[in-house]
Amino acid sequence: MSSRQRLLAIKTAIWLCCIAPLVWLGWHVFTNQLGANPLEVVIRHLGEWGLQLLLVTLCMTPLRDLSNESWPIQLRRLLGLWSFAYICLHFVAYLWLDQFFDWTEIGKDIVKRPFITVGMLAVLALLPLAITSTRAMQRRLGRRWKQLHRLVYVIVPLGTLHFYWLVKADTLRPLIFALCVGLLLGYRIVRRRLLQRPS
Ligand code: HEM
Repeated sequence: MSSRQRLLAIKTAIWLCCIAPLVWLGWHVFTNQLGANPLEVVIRHLGEWGLQLLLVTLCMTPLRDLSNESWPIQLRRLLGLWSFAYICLHFVAYLWLDQFFDWTEIGKDIVKRPFITVGMLAVLALLPLAITSTRAMQRRLGRRWKQLHRLVYVIVPLGTLHFYWLVKADTLRPLIFALCVGLLLGYRIVRRRLLQRPS
């Protein structure tokens, strides 16, 4: 298998893996299998997949270092855009299904509930990354593109804090996410300091 074919196979697998949770959700909505609080399940499912995919995107640099191959880096854009898609759907589900586009209530929610405030900040920070995700933008911005995309190192901790603040009792899952974020960001700091290699 040539490296181009292998990349295509991995990208196809990523598409299938990323579509699967949406199909699962669509099927459960269609067959009315989401339990007593379907709205909560929809919002949570989309948010959790958004955060998971952000973490998978962050795994690509260590994977490139470990494998000494370039294909993980070539997957970053696809994974990043999928995580953005999930987070957009998560956000729209909140605006629509939870708040019925009542902008006054949404404004109050942003001010009153800290987990919504940090979620909003994370979404706002994600926007410029999604807008500049095209190859043309990457070429146009040059070095500044890399600097701008370091915003992901702020977005992921904000998303994790959002998750931690919203759970009332069972903090195990957000803490596992926080541990993974710490390891992935810590890896980058050590790598920059010791190896002097850009990420
Ligand atoms: C980068 C941005 C964001 C990420 C990564 C994210 C991630 C998450 C995660 C992981 C959960 C919990 C899922 C679970 O319990 O399994 C969640 C729940 C939730 N998120 Fe977000 N989120 C983001 C932005 C937002 C924004 C902007 C809003 C609304 C303004 C929002 C509203 C909510 C709500 C209402 C819940 C459910 C709370 C509940 O069930 O009580 N999120 N989000």
